[in-house]
Amino acid sequence: MDGLRDPGIRKVGSQSSIDTDVFDITRLLDRPRAVNIDRHRSLDERAMSEHSVMGNAKAVDSSESMNSTMETGPRLGFETPISSTPRSPNPNVVDAWDALRRSLVYFRGQPVGTVAAIDYQSEEVLNYDQVFVRDFVPSAMAFLMNKEPDIVKNFLLKTLRLQSWEKRIDRFKLGEGAMPASFKVLHDSNRKTDTVVADFGESAIGRVAPVDSGFWWIILLRAYTKSTGDTSLAESTDCQKGMRLILSLCLSEGFDTFPTLLCADGCSMIDRRMGIYGYPIEIQALFFMALRCAFALLKQDAEGKEFIEKIVTRVHALSYHIRTYFWLDFQQLNSIYRYKTEEYSNTAVNKFNVIPDSIPDWLFDFMPIRGGYFIGNVSPARMDFRWFALGNFFTVLSSLATPEQSTAVMDLIEERWEELVGEMPLKVAYPAIEAREWQIVTGCDPKNTRWSYHNGGSWPVLLWMLTAACIKTGRPQIARKAIELAERRLAKDGWPEYYDGKLGRYVGKQAKKFQTWSIAGYLVAKLMMEDPSHAGMICLEEDKAMKPALKRSSSWSC
Ligand code: GLC
Repeated sequence: MDGLRDPGIRKVGSQSSIDTDVFDITRLLDRPRAVNIDRHRSLDERAMSEHSVMGNAKAVDSSESMNSTMETGPRLGFETPISSTPRSPNPNVVDAWDALRRSLVYFRGQPVGTVAAIDYQSEEVLNYDQVFVRDFVPSAMAFLMNKEPDIVKNFLLKTLRLQSWEKRIDRFKLGEGAMPASFKVLHDSNRKTDTVVADFGESAIGRVAPVDSGFWWIILLRAYTKSTGDTSLAESTDCQKGMRLILSLCLSEGFDTFPTLLCADGCSMIDRRMGIYGYPIEIQALFFMALRCAFALLKQDAEGKEFIEKIVTRVHALSYHIRTYFWLDFQQLNSIYRYKTEEYSNTAVNKFNVIPDSIPDWLFDFMPIRGGYFIGNVSPARMDFRWFALGNFFTVLSSLATPEQSTAVMDLIEERWEELVGEMPLKVAYPAIEAREWQIVTGCDPKNTRWSYHNGGSWPVLLWMLTAACIKTGRPQIARKAIELAERRLAKDGWPEYYDGKLGRYVGKQAKKFQTWSIAGYLVAKLMMEDPSHAGMICLEEDKAMKPALKRSSSWSC
């Protein structure tokens, strides 16, 4: 099972140690069409990288920022000295770094995160002045790639502290391991104190639980460890405990018949009712990635061992389940189309009793001969055939997808470029739900009308995930095309949160401007194209030990 371990993070006895030389991302070259992931520079990006944005930034002077005007309310990075903005000829990049630094949030003089958005025009701040765990991930990646790891470490420690809070919604106590969706730093100028308030779902619109937060936390801990070579943070007693608490929440035994994680609606980036309750691919892919990251980071001590064993079992079952039952391509669609129903016993081909009539009309035209994807959800008599970008990219990045499936996901993007990328990368989900279905599924949500927001809206933040997936599968030209599209408008439009319309042509109806993850997502995409080895922070190679468990289920045959 040792093969599962991230080759870049090796265990020595009960200690894990990072060995950047051991992780050879150029191993990806073994793949038939793998990209030339030069450790430092990609071929045709070399000229561009003469103006690399990887320059060393000045450290933030925390004492000065402590002396700045104190006020009650969130203090952003405005008054604090900022690191020097790396020079680049690309005005979009310069603009993005400036905006990213303005979004910094400080706690007792130390940067601990970035706010979700600083929209100067919008009167309604809602909770966009908070540091969201999921939103901070691309910011963190940008800082790590720019050799500024301190803020990431501070963030990991701050959120770890919050995890240990007692969390309640009304009279109900949440699981110990739950991580917050977001937090906010309050500065009291009179008392000269900083305090933190966190939201574990008890304040969130719809009271949704951020199932993804804990997974992002583990994924980020591994990215930090990988990027810095500093294993001491992940090995610390607190971090080990934090990981175990998150894992206890999602590896506990219950009534499940599937290895996938049962979730309520709105538990991820799509944090409103959108019909993704059940076993959403968005969560399953992050769950798998987090399990593999935790496997690499957990110490093999008495407490860690138990979890390592559980992870091994779950990862095998989960990859089999997702690769088999969530996968859809032309052949598989044809097979489902011809399914018999009401099959009893373990010889059933149509295991979930999916009624072929429930296949939506749009899918027959959408499905190309070349390409495939993991569908949104699978549960009894229910297949949600919608495409979800984040989930699919993370199946590729975590190697939950087989190499063939990863290639097919990228093929699909090429084949259905207009639908999935359009004029602004990228659709968070496809297609939009409309009319009566929209009423029933979203509860008449006016923010999620067709082709807007989570319901078929286009989210620039997804660019970094697409780029990482392109690098991993050796298809940098796809990312290049998408980045070019984004560059035509993103900065000019003021870094919107999302775009609306079938082609993503319009700035979203209620989209915030200067949305931090749109800014950071773009930067991370650019940085990875300049130096594809950065993608190693967020990519996991296929574990050979998982292979034997992979057999096609009988439902694969036509
Ligand atoms: C919206 C998004 C959510 C994001 C938050 C802050 O609620 O749906 O994914 O974390 O805004 O940007």
